[in-house]
Amino acid sequence: MWDEFVYQSLPMRVVFGAGTSARLGEEVDQLGLTRVLVLCTPEQEALGRRVADGLGSRAAGVYPHARMHVPVEVAARAREAAAELGADGCVAAGGGSTIGLGKAIALEHGLPVIAVPTTYAGSEMTPIWGVTQDGRKRTGRDPAVLPRSVVYDPELTLTLPVPLSVTSGFNAVAHAVEGLYAPDASPIISLMAREGAQAILEALPLVAARPTDLAARTRAQYGAWLCGAVLGATTMSLHHKLCHVLGGTFDLPHAEVHTVVLPHVVAFNAPACPALTSLLGADPGGALWDLATKLGAPRSLAELGLPASGIAEVVRQATASPYANPRPVTADDLTRLVEAARHGERPTVS
Ligand SMILES: NC(=O)c1ccc[n+]([C@@H]2O[C@H](COP(=O)([O-])OP(=O)(O)OC[C@H]3O[C@@H](n4cnc5c(N)ncnc54)[C@H](O)[C@@H]3O)[C@@H](O)[C@H]2O)c1
Repeated sequence: MWDEFVYQSLPMRVVFGAGTSARLGEEVDQLGLTRVLVLCTPEQEALGRRVADGLGSRAAGVYPHARMHVPVEVAARAREAAAELGADGCVAAGGGSTIGLGKAIALEHGLPVIAVPTTYAGSEMTPIWGVTQDGRKRTGRDPAVLPRSVVYDPELTLTLPVPLSVTSGFNAVAHAVEGLYAPDASPIISLMAREGAQAILEALPLVAARPTDLAARTRAQYGAWLCGAVLGATTMSLHHKLCHVLGGTFDLPHAEVHTVVLPHVVAFNAPACPALTSLLGADPGGALWDLATKLGAPRSLAELGLPASGIAEVVRQATASPYANPRPVTADDLTRLVEAARHGERPTVS
């Protein structure tokens, strides 16, 4: 029951469905753009070239150098390339790293971004940008970086390897989970969070069993859209704080860290958030951990590279600045939580 809330919707255009990336030209025209730079990672250069070919004369070129966590040098070179080619917008075709590069260009040059997401990370639905310099990640919120249009074509996710599909799916579920207890949650956010998490959680076992199952991929991406919208509209809590520190300071891989940490945070927060048990059952942290295990995902921060000596630093950084969480967190609580996640223990309701 909601007695009071504030909800501000973001100005987004979403085109969803198998084969919709073939209509990208219409999106470019709709925004009044004439020469867009196509961004992608080196690993997805073939996709970038295909997208550019489909855009024909509307494509100014392909920039296949997106990298995880958007290093400032990469962003600077991409901005130069966009200026030299006379681009008036960008098409970011890929996961959170590629969309992050588009946002870094938009932040300084104001070029509109069209996102074509190929993972479940959800960056395309948020006004959150991030760049990394000297090993430190700076992030912020700015409406200027929010993609003007998002084209979700599940066919482009058929090639997403199963391990990344699973961890990227857990990354999306994490947005929904923290949306359920966000300080700025609202009825519409809760609806999106529940629907999004359920869709992804149902689809992941099917995707893992048959990665080319287009119906399962479609359901997973539908869930990822909703979970990303939750991330874009709310303030995240303990889970995202921990993952930010683990990724930023220890350079641990983004989606995998989310997958390992989420069951532990859910188990910790469950006593203070009944919505978690109604979404995931009586043992919500254990249920997520069991699913991750069944789908072969990593379960310990140790295997991702967190040394035992790093736990104190994670706790120090995660407690240094206040942030919202449904259950108060002490340094001792966090130490226990990070130790359990480092060892890969099944979380227990505390
Ligand atoms: N700003 C935000 O709101 C936000 C939200 C979520 C994630 N992020 C950021 O996004 C980054 C992580 O993004 P990610 O998890 O999507 O991974 P990613 O974009 O780094 O992609 C991982 C790898 O998978 C490849 N890949 C992606 N889609 C593929 C596909 N369909 N087929 C084959 N290969 C594919 C990529 O080319 C890359 O090599 C992190 O830097 C994270 O901080 C930002």
